[in-house]
Amino acid sequence: KTPDAHVPRDPRLIRLTGVHPFNVEAPLTDLFNEGFLTSPELFYVRNHGAVPVVQEEEIPDWEFSVEGLVANPIKITLRELLSDYENVTYPITLVCAGNRRKEQNVVRKSKGFSWGAAGVSTALFTGVVMRDVIERAKPLRRAKYVCMEGADKLPNGYYGTSVKLNWAMDPNRGMMLAHKMNGEPLRPDHGLPLRAVIPGQIGGRSVKWLKKLIITAEPSDNWYHIYDNRVLPTMVDPDESATNPKWWTDERYAIYDLSPNSAIAYPAHEEKLSLTAAPEKYKVRGYAYSGGGRRITRAEVSIDQGKTWRLADIDYAEDKYRALEDKQLFGGRLDMDWRETCFCWCFWSLDINVSELEDAKDIVVRTMDESMCIQPRDMYWSVLGMMNNPWFRIAIHKEH
Ligand code: MTE
Repeated sequence: KTPDAHVPRDPRLIRLTGVHPFNVEAPLTDLFNEGFLTSPELFYVRNHGAVPVVQEEEIPDWEFSVEGLVANPIKITLRELLSDYENVTYPITLVCAGNRRKEQNVVRKSKGFSWGAAGVSTALFTGVVMRDVIERAKPLRRAKYVCMEGADKLPNGYYGTSVKLNWAMDPNRGMMLAHKMNGEPLRPDHGLPLRAVIPGQIGGRSVKWLKKLIITAEPSDNWYHIYDNRVLPTMVDPDESATNPKWWTDERYAIYDLSPNSAIAYPAHEEKLSLTAAPEKYKVRGYAYSGGGRRITRAEVSIDQGKTWRLADIDYAEDKYRALEDKQLFGGRLDMDWRETCFCWCFWSLDINVSELEDAKDIVVRTMDESMCIQPRDMYWSVLGMMNNPWFRIAIHKEH
């Protein structure tokens, strides 16, 4: 029996670590088949420890504080967050910084478990704009960071991290304190009853079971902020990194914005394609995302190991939500303009004549975002195996 015995979970999820803590992703094709919004049952989970037990009757009284370098420290209950603040809803993709780490571990073992390419999911999150809450606490002039702390007590203290205060104060960055996912209360694994959602950045910044916002002059000194979610220089050796704190305390190596990334869902890796029985064209399909609100602007597919490329079609499903009445979805706020900002994954597809696959050994995809930042050909290995985003490749086999 694990400390999470109270938490309902879907048997389709693939466990990436032992029985506890719970770290799972859906099979990639199942995740893809869900479409733009991921159901809570198949949403990836990254827990560092046990899920805090919160009884239903305790939820309205869940209290969190805004403290630190503020003129007016405050404590707010979830009940007050619902009644005293404007609530907004919008679609956001969360991605674990370890997504696709398995490929790094194959090249050289990193200090992290092997995510496939399904450490990414999308939901409609409902909550309060983080700025609205912080404004009431009146940050002091020298305040520069927002530290967040969860209720999960771990071997090295509570889970916590930080983001820059000026990001949190920019409503167009969409940072929020969310209490609903796809219109329902958060599930226990995803932060019930309250979590931070930091769009466009790695999932590790979106603190679950949120208890504290601490406004500070320095980045978080929480153990999990320092020793997790970093891309250290590639030459740092796993053994040396463990003993040399200089690598960990250098904030330049902390990851915030996601970088362009993509994966192929169809065909699956090592899938056997029937070249004679199949229809004339095969639709190669997958997902892509980037960070910092930047839109993916192209997805290119190669069936000759990158010698030549073909341009795929892209479906920006996020735009269908933008087209909805502002009031319905975004709370009708004039200080937010979501039209230019991309906080979600998109789906790309390309028809390939089956006859052309005769000589192909594999299929490769790469994407680019609006800052012309492209997925690299080569892997950048690092000790935590994070932000792995080289061209995504699947091997194919053929049957006649
Ligand atoms: N917040 C708390 N309190 N504890 C955690 O273990 N994990 C972080 C983040 N927030 C974590 C947390 C990491 S590394 C990720 S990727 C996301 O939550 C995962 O969110 P999800 O499990 O809802 O998908």
